[in-house]
Amino acid sequence: MGFLSPAYVLFFFLGVEVYCQYETYQWDEEYLQEPDEDYEPEFQFNQNTEYGVSFYHSILGCARECFCPSNFPTSMYCDNRKLKMIPNIPIHIQQLYLQFNEIEAVTANSFINATHLKEINLSHNKIKSQKIDYGVFAKFSNLQQLHLEHNNLEEFPFPLPKSLERLLLGYNKISTLQTNAMDGLVNLTMLDLCYNYLPDSMLKEENLSKLEKLMQLNLCNNRLESMPPGLPSSLMYLSLENNSISFIPDNYFDKLPKLHALRMSHNRLEDIPYNIFNHSNLIELNLGHNKLKHAFYIPRNLEHLYLQNNEIESM
Ligand SMILES: *[C@@H]1O[C@H](CO)[C@@H](O)[C@H](O)[C@H]1NC(C)=O
Ligand SMILES: *[C@@H]1O[C@H](CO)[C@@H](O)[C@H](O)[C@H]1NC(C)=O
Ligand SMILES: *[C@@H]1O[C@H](CO)[C@@H](O)[C@H](O)[C@H]1NC(C)=O
Ligand SMILES: *[C@@H]1O[C@H](CO)[C@@H](O)[C@H](O)[C@H]1NC(C)=O
Ligand SMILES: *[C@@H]1O[C@H](CO)[C@@H](O)[C@H](O)[C@H]1NC(C)=O
Ligand SMILES: *[C@@H]1O[C@H](CO)[C@@H](O)[C@H](O)[C@H]1NC(C)=O
Repeated sequence: MGFLSPAYVLFFFLGVEVYCQYETYQWDEEYLQEPDEDYEPEFQFNQNTEYGVSFYHSILGCARECFCPSNFPTSMYCDNRKLKMIPNIPIHIQQLYLQFNEIEAVTANSFINATHLKEINLSHNKIKSQKIDYGVFAKFSNLQQLHLEHNNLEEFPFPLPKSLERLLLGYNKISTLQTNAMDGLVNLTMLDLCYNYLPDSMLKEENLSKLEKLMQLNLCNNRLESMPPGLPSSLMYLSLENNSISFIPDNYFDKLPKLHALRMSHNRLEDIPYNIFNHSNLIELNLGHNKLKHAFYIPRNLEHLYLQNNEIESM
């Protein structure tokens, strides 16, 4: 959490300037634990141990372009190498780091032996949807984390493995997703689709209520004009900032009893039903930078309320 982070501050006054830009990744750090095998580049300077790189290169194999640290024998680091293609992935690799390269295609050939992958980081590359070989991800039956943020995807990747727990697709150009593209993702807890081009129509065709473990849904900076329908009752954090949403349907939150944080700043809300939050268990509510004119019922458990830049005269 950074300095001036809104979660530390309690606001009950209007017109207060709050420094809240793109806050979604803070939720990650705060509420969802990262795995232990976090990327630590220092390992690259520690190669001279007895069971050093060459031991693993020869015994277990490591792609020539990459680095396989002896103290993390199931991880392969290929990030920041100007790679244009995915190297061949050895069979024992579980964590694969390919972020910050110039990769355009995800080819099944590179992964022919890689059946144990749990985590793939392909963020910050140039991957286009039509250059992902069909089914390449779906065959990883142990895959828990897939990072594809900051690429050139135009479509939601499909099919995906049912084992997936965290899917990061932010900062792409995704405007379409196949009907039922998310069916079967029963273990998904976190889905990040911020900074894409998603319109309402795409979400209406998905049955999101089947994502029974989903805790965090990030849809900020898309092209939504209405609230996403049919969300699962497991949801705790919903990020919708910077869309064009103009209303919240009656009883919208009745089906979301666990929702603790709702971030909807920078939308077009003008009028919301007075009782809309009556039964909700919200702890954090951000409705700043909308066009709200009237007061509304503030839920009992609320700790953080942001209403700056609205047109409310008194509450
Ligand atoms: C909203 O989107 C615009 C255009 O994409 C961007 O410049 C701006 O930083 C975004 N604001 C927030 C609060 O995310
Ligand atoms: C994946 O790459 C991103 C950079 O886009 C980085 O922030 C993140 O920490 C990486 N994840 C892991 C687990 O290494
Ligand atoms: C897959 O494994 C086989 C047997 O170890 C090896 O000969 C082959 O080169 C590997 N292929 C790839 C693409 O890694
Ligand atoms: C979902 O997670 C549970 C608990 O970790 C695991 O036992 C199960 O196999 C997973 N389901 C799939 C389809 O991978
Ligand atoms: C969505 O899935 C739920 C649970 O599987 C089911 O009850 C519901 O009928 C589905 N709705 C649609 C519109 O397919
Ligand atoms: C909230 O709901 C309760 C129970 O349904 C009801 O008694 C109460 O009047 C409602 N509060 C407001 C402000 O409408």
